[in-house]
Amino acid sequence: MPAYIVMGAQWGDEGKGKIVDVLAEKMDFVVRFQGGANAGHTVIHGDIKYVTHLIPSGVISGRSVNIIGNGCVVNPTTLFEEMETLRKQGVNISPDKFIISPAAHMVLPIHEYLDRALNEKIGTTNRGIGPAYTDKVRRTGIRWESACDGSFEEAYREHLDFVEKVYAIVDDKEIQLLRDGIPEQVEAVKRLRPFVRDARPLLAEATKNGSKILYEGAQGTFLDIDHGTYPFVTSSNTSIGGAYTGSGVFLDFVKRIGIVKSYTTRVGEGPFPTELFDETGQALRDHGNEYGATTGRPRRCGWLDLALLKESCMINGFNYIVFSKISCLSGLETLKVAIAYNSDGSPVYHELPGWEEDVLGCTEYDKLPDNCRKYIEFVEDFLGVPIGIVSTGPDRDHVIERQPIFAK
Ligand code: IMP
Repeated sequence: MPAYIVMGAQWGDEGKGKIVDVLAEKMDFVVRFQGGANAGHTVIHGDIKYVTHLIPSGVISGRSVNIIGNGCVVNPTTLFEEMETLRKQGVNISPDKFIISPAAHMVLPIHEYLDRALNEKIGTTNRGIGPAYTDKVRRTGIRWESACDGSFEEAYREHLDFVEKVYAIVDDKEIQLLRDGIPEQVEAVKRLRPFVRDARPLLAEATKNGSKILYEGAQGTFLDIDHGTYPFVTSSNTSIGGAYTGSGVFLDFVKRIGIVKSYTTRVGEGPFPTELFDETGQALRDHGNEYGATTGRPRRCGWLDLALLKESCMINGFNYIVFSKISCLSGLETLKVAIAYNSDGSPVYHELPGWEEDVLGCTEYDKLPDNCRKYIEFVEDFLGVPIGIVSTGPDRDHVIERQPIFAK
């Protein structure tokens, strides 16, 4: 039962999509277990660029069954649009290859409205994620099972009545607009109905019969609602625990893969001890094209934070690291990595010499400049987890495999 899990080790945008895609090609199942369309995975196949927000990246290769687990929150209209965009790019999405859990919650226009109205301080993606999870935990949410038993429209009407009572911020005009939008939601939910079914028995069976299963994390460890930089986090468990609650099946992951970007980025507000506000930060942003796939927002950039990553390894039990975007560090004279924090919270840095050479697309470890290899090996020693893959560019072939990623 080779089960794999891929998670972002930092604040998201580590480059999970590419690795997930490489793995997904060989998988029988690909599972999303948390989050919603706040994620943005970019996958490049030849000349075609696919962007998925919610649908597991496995749909692109077409081999696997792709599951949106109960831990996710799913917006009917944006999911439908995402499916249509992929279909136009030639991706086949049928109910035998794509399943939405009936226990997953819906993200509706009211959630997007409340996100914009209430969550400015966090700098959210405005996709309604927090308010949808709020409804889930408050036990006032609407689950996808309502698409199957025909109760959706009534449930949504009742929900808007509830919202009107509870939130003074939703004025009469807004609530009317939301009510006017009910038919559109009803239509979207109806169209997605064929995809809603309980995938747990399928997954449970798959764990017994030796199928290959991939769990695809979204966002990153420090956006975890429990273990992240609260309150500047997302509203789900982005770390390994979320995989169990968010899919309803126990798996003994043979590879727990942490994607670590070779520097640090985050979007939105919140602490970021190694953030750079100078031209080095801008150089990282430019080299790494650090602009959000979902929102287009410029990402905050800074040095690699190994103290933080050590914690990430502890939380997730990583046993394999993919070190991404190394080519974006070329040309920096000195590289700093945080190895601890001072009592005032500022980072204690270790300095390493940089390298000039362009390593974009390099596929052989020995061909990397000495200082680049030293940087990689310093990180590996510090974290005590093997760096199995070094990613050297956006293409699928831009990888150096130091340790086989596929289990025997
Ligand atoms: P929300 O998930 O939209 O509620 O946003 C909460 C926080 O998580 C904000 O700081 C977002 O910028 C951040 N966030 C959400 N999704 C992603 C992602 O896929 N990559 C990076 N940051 C994200």
